[in-house]
Amino acid sequence: MLTFLGGSEYKKPTAFVAKEQAVKTFPLDRAFQFLEPGPTILLSTCYKGKPNLMTLSWSTVIDFTPIFGCILSPGDYTFELLKKTRECVIAIPTVDLLNKVVDIGNCSGLDTDKFARFKLTAQKSKYVGAPLVKECLANIECKVTDTSLAGRYGLFVMEGVKAWYDPARKERRTFHANGDGTFTVDGRTRDLRERMTKWEGEI
Ligand SMILES: Cc1cc2nc3c(=O)[nH]c(=O)nc-3n(C[C@H](O)[C@H](O)[C@H](O)COP(=O)(O)O)c2cc1C
Repeated sequence: MLTFLGGSEYKKPTAFVAKEQAVKTFPLDRAFQFLEPGPTILLSTCYKGKPNLMTLSWSTVIDFTPIFGCILSPGDYTFELLKKTRECVIAIPTVDLLNKVVDIGNCSGLDTDKFARFKLTAQKSKYVGAPLVKECLANIECKVTDTSLAGRYGLFVMEGVKAWYDPARKERRTFHANGDGTFTVDGRTRDLRERMTKWEGEI
């Protein structure tokens, strides 16, 4: 059973910084587009003012509204944090952050302030206690709505309540875990919108 560290056991956490002009709000009903291609993501959480990050590749879109699902191992500190706070931010990193994202997934928030260690900036969210990750391309504030399958499958169902993205960012390529320590980086995009006749006017 995991326990929460407090008081002198835990190093002073990263201070949250105010949101900057560069970060723009993103239409919530299009936020599923960040998750649909299956990028490796960061899950940001916060408990008692101490933010944490984990790396996650097992995520899915469940509905356009938007509803997402994330599979977490009970061995992750974030598993306990999500159960306790029922809030998080899904942050979408790009390939310039690949090494950091892998390293974030190889240490625990139980003994590491990952924002400080990996020199990432925790920005204040609008509706949840967990911070946005300023260096990421997009951030989706989420409320956990269903943990009924968390015990059996580690599945946390969450609803996006606010989405942000950084339109000024030059690097926009996300990356995808292959499950063996190798990663595939976004390549060429092909535009087949004219063939998507079933959804005309919707996409
Ligand atoms: C590329 C990559 C993908 C990962 N995907 C997942 C995942 O989908 N689910 C999960 O539970 N852990 C995943 N992990 C492992 C967690 O990120 C790792 O256990 C991390 O240390 C948990 O941090 P925490 O203890 O601070 O929550 C992944 C790690 C890496 C490097």
